[in-house]
Amino acid sequence: MSEGDVTITEGLAAEHVEDALRILFGAFAKKLHIGFRDAEDFVRLFHDGVNPAACLSATADGELQGILGLQSPGVEIYNFRPKSLFLRFSPWRAALILANMLVLYSPPRKDALVVDQLAVAPAARGKGVGTLLLEAAEARGRAMGMPRMALSVISENEGAIRLYERMGYVRTQAIGGRLVRMVAKSAEVWTMEKELG
Ligand SMILES: CC(C)(COP(=O)(O)OP(=O)(O)OC[C@H]1O[C@@H](n2cnc3c(N)ncnc32)[C@H](O)[C@@H]1OP(=O)(O)O)[C@@H](O)C(=O)NCCC(=O)NCCS
Repeated sequence: MSEGDVTITEGLAAEHVEDALRILFGAFAKKLHIGFRDAEDFVRLFHDGVNPAACLSATADGELQGILGLQSPGVEIYNFRPKSLFLRFSPWRAALILANMLVLYSPPRKDALVVDQLAVAPAARGKGVGTLLLEAAEARGRAMGMPRMALSVISENEGAIRLYERMGYVRTQAIGGRLVRMVAKSAEVWTMEKELG
């Protein structure tokens, strides 16, 4: 799929893995503040653990512009073993990172294709890349026979919520509370869904 200069492809090329992790860390630094000191930590942990089969990539002139990760039964974005955390980080930081990841984890669902990670490089935002990635994700959901798409978004992320609403996603659940405030630094985490029909 392509529009203008941007091409959407299934998977994630090996040479784009590090860029993808940097784009994701930059986009979600606020959420990942517990445990990860900087992007290097994040890249170090996940570089060998990203599952390309769960990704869609947006590229222009060979450069990665955006990344979308999908969770479905048996195909998760990160092939991650908690043990590797304790091998790479001090026990205290490993425990913090693990707690953070457990709270932010979007498990796969049988009744929905879950968009877990969507981020566009700052310089490429507002040009339709996110829309193209979501459309490609929905095409995959239909091909898999999934009845709906699902994703999570913090209530303060008004720009992303506008994009999801424009594409037909509706809020189906809102979770608040102390843990959400502490880890997601947000009043509420919303689940938004779209029937694929
Ligand atoms: C949300 C995000 C993926 C959208 O990607 P995008 O390529 O800018 O999206 P598009 O160009 O297809 O659509 C633009 C829409 O996204 C929204 N948007 C969100 N953040 C934006 C930004 N920084 N610049 C421009 N549009 C933004 C706007 O609502 C816009 O809709 P509008 O033109 O009707 O106002 C991107 O802004 C991003 O990576 N943000 C940081 C990470 C994030 O919040 N991810 C979603 C987590 S649930």
